[in-house]
Amino acid sequence: MALNFVPIISWTALVTVFISGRGCAARYTADWKSLDARPLPAWFDEAKIGIFVHWGVFSVPAFGEYSEWFWYWWESKKRAEEVEFMRKNYPTGFEYTDFAHKFHAEFFNPDSWAELFHASGAKYVVFTSKHHEGFTNWPSPTSWNWNSVDVGPHRDLVAELAVAIRNRSLHFGLYHSLFEWYNPLFLLDEASGFKTQNFVAWRTLPDLVNLVKVYKPELIWSDGDWLASDEYWNSTQFLAWLYNDSPVKDVVVTNDRWGKGCYCKHGGYYNCADRYTPGKLPGHKWEKCQSIDTRSWGYRRNMQLSEVMDLPSIIKDMVYVVAMGGNYLLNIGPAADGMIAPVFEERLRGLGAWLGINKEAIYASKPWRIQTENSTVTVWYTAKNSTVYAIMLGWPSTQPLELTSPKTSKATKVTLLDYPNVPLKWAPLTQAAGLLILMPAMPASRGNAWTLKLEGVV
Ligand SMILES: *[C@@H]1O[C@H](CO)[C@@H](O)[C@H](O)[C@H]1NC(C)=O
Ligand SMILES: *[C@@H]1O[C@H](CO)[C@@H](O)[C@H](O)[C@H]1NC(C)=O
Ligand SMILES: *[C@@H]1O[C@H](CO)[C@@H](O)[C@H](O)[C@H]1NC(C)=O
Ligand SMILES: *[C@@H]1O[C@H](CO)[C@@H](O)[C@H](O)[C@H]1NC(C)=O
Repeated sequence: MALNFVPIISWTALVTVFISGRGCAARYTADWKSLDARPLPAWFDEAKIGIFVHWGVFSVPAFGEYSEWFWYWWESKKRAEEVEFMRKNYPTGFEYTDFAHKFHAEFFNPDSWAELFHASGAKYVVFTSKHHEGFTNWPSPTSWNWNSVDVGPHRDLVAELAVAIRNRSLHFGLYHSLFEWYNPLFLLDEASGFKTQNFVAWRTLPDLVNLVKVYKPELIWSDGDWLASDEYWNSTQFLAWLYNDSPVKDVVVTNDRWGKGCYCKHGGYYNCADRYTPGKLPGHKWEKCQSIDTRSWGYRRNMQLSEVMDLPSIIKDMVYVVAMGGNYLLNIGPAADGMIAPVFEERLRGLGAWLGINKEAIYASKPWRIQTENSTVTVWYTAKNSTVYAIMLGWPSTQPLELTSPKTSKATKVTLLDYPNVPLKWAPLTQAAGLLILMPAMPASRGNAWTLKLEGVV
């Protein structure tokens, strides 16, 4: 059944055929009750760490806070920084769309990106197929002259990256913005109070189906949903097709941004609002996305070092997220020429080096009975099978280290992951719980975090 280009009539007809056509396996219906009950494919929780990549026409001006919103700041918001930047540096009459011709990607080497992402210890990559500006990084059949093959790089960026990412055995995911600031069809629907679905029928659904069929993403990171309801977007109809009949039905993972009021409630895993930082263990799989450049997802040529997360802050954030049952999606914005700034590369390789030692406390771990406690250093716990990991954010300044939460037995064994063959001396703290650990000399770590492996504790 070909689903290459699906205009409104055949889209609904196909869904109907799919729903009524087979009677055997359990099928999802196009409602949240059914879709929300789908178990999340196991790879996602085990992966823990992903790399988010924001790349598009916005990478050309590469200017200002949240540079991926440049067009909106300049055109709609008339934010002073962007207006001034354009006045000073570009001729009158220069339009945002003219930036696409300067998006050359001349140094884009997908395998060097993939090598770096692999070296960072990440297990999946989420790439912007299309941001709110509407420019597609693949030759979308609905995006004539506003895609990376017709203009700019003249390359199918999604295809090239997908090949390189998979070659390094990482999972490949796509970010996709449902809405577009200035798409005439979207503006038409908006003017009708979203009673019409021209944009959804001719753009959103055909694009999503095209992306899934051609690139087979294992993750769809939906965004740009907030102006209209999930009924307008036909999100449940799309997800039912995705989970029942698409080529990625068994492996694909989705997030929760599928319409106004959906996030933190419906979909696959939860992103909730940006900067969601739960204070206690959430009852649902979640993911925190965080940009290494704390002021932007897209690249900014005017980025300052003081605005860039250092390695200890990245590790601290990631450890908190994993101990709280989340995944950590760490963002970088490549430059328009395809280069990844050496400061981002340094952070990613540093993270990978830390994970090289501490990996067993992170990948495929589960939250423990207790998430955190403060000793002379803050400790976050993770667990795997009957082993508990105590990840220390900092090196304890006094001896011995006191942990109050684990309950020991005679079989308890304590090691530092930096010295796996050196059992550490320990003693129970009280009869009920806790232990005192005699720490060895401090091993070097650029990440300012170390892991104690506690076997035989509950
Ligand atoms: C695939 O990955 C290997 C290393 O694992 C690398 O040597 C090779 O160049 C990559 N091939 C492509 C097409 O990216
Ligand atoms: C959205 O789904 C409804 C219900 O199945 C259907 O009537 C409508 O035509 C769909 N719209 C699009 C744009 O596919
Ligand atoms: C540990 O200390 C930090 C900073 O002082 C505090 O925010 C946090 O709530 C403490 N955690 C526990 C479990 O007491
Ligand atoms: C943990 O248990 C799983 C099965 O539940 C097993 O596949 C895995 O090898 C175990 N890991 C370790 C480190 O013992």
